[in-house]
Amino acid sequence: MPASGIISSQNCRITLLPSRYTVSIVAFTVNSRTVMQKTNQELQDRLAHILNTIESLEGVIEAYDEWADTHDQDQLCLGYGAPFITCDVMREMVPDKSARILDVAAGTGLAGVELKQSGYTNIDALEPSKKLARKAEEKLVYNNIILDTVDTNTLDIDTDLYDAVIACACFLPNHILPSCLSELIRIVKPNGYIIIVTDKEYYQDHVYGRELQKEINQFSDDRKIIQIKREDRPGYYKHLKTATVLVIRVL
Ligand SMILES: C[S@@+](CC[C@H](N)C(=O)[O-])C[C@H]1O[C@@H](n2cnc3c(N)ncnc32)[C@H](O)[C@@H]1O
Repeated sequence: MPASGIISSQNCRITLLPSRYTVSIVAFTVNSRTVMQKTNQELQDRLAHILNTIESLEGVIEAYDEWADTHDQDQLCLGYGAPFITCDVMREMVPDKSARILDVAAGTGLAGVELKQSGYTNIDALEPSKKLARKAEEKLVYNNIILDTVDTNTLDIDTDLYDAVIACACFLPNHILPSCLSELIRIVKPNGYIIIVTDKEYYQDHVYGRELQKEINQFSDDRKIIQIKREDRPGYYKHLKTATVLVIRVL
């Protein structure tokens, strides 16, 4: 059954109405003033535009900058679950709560919040959108926030620094290129992990996903990594999209 109802605290109320798939209209009310009203379709269109239409990385980052103020509420309303899945996989793979973790393309820090709540204490973030990074900073879950892209550049990060890198909803078209996997492998310690949580649809049915798997296979053949998990989990977006989880151990 689709979610519906009201989530309320002292000053804030979110109204969720059901539709065929999931929440269809959301009113976000603070101190009795409606500050946001959007349809589910508008939010999905915004995401589809970022993933499929914008032609440059600068354009993508600008689009996230513009989304900063309502990003978390909008994602909550759409039932965004990728950060929860990422955190679940971290707990399964890396039980050591002092592990040094990098949250790449951290956005506003939703995965960081989950990790912190699960007891992880040593988390950095990397995020190219200044406005999203500022939102992430306000959540007080990261030790360092690196303002940078994962692209053709070499990151200003030491080799073999991290026990784990998480990549939640960023190995996607128009975001991190599949070829950038090599740079993430470089910054992860031997026996450390790269945890990728992505949209099954793009992983399975899009040329992007095929390129990503090709990169993984090549690094596996070269004995640089082992792919230890590739599975689908429900709830990338609740009632709407399935996640594909990829776990890579660096050799
Ligand atoms: C769908 S959001 C996910 C954010 C966050 N991981 C989460 O789950 O809430 C995608 C993020 O990827 C970032 N991004 C896009 N391209 C990137 C790149 N080449 N390098 C690093 N980050 C990138 C965007 O700025 C945005 O924060």
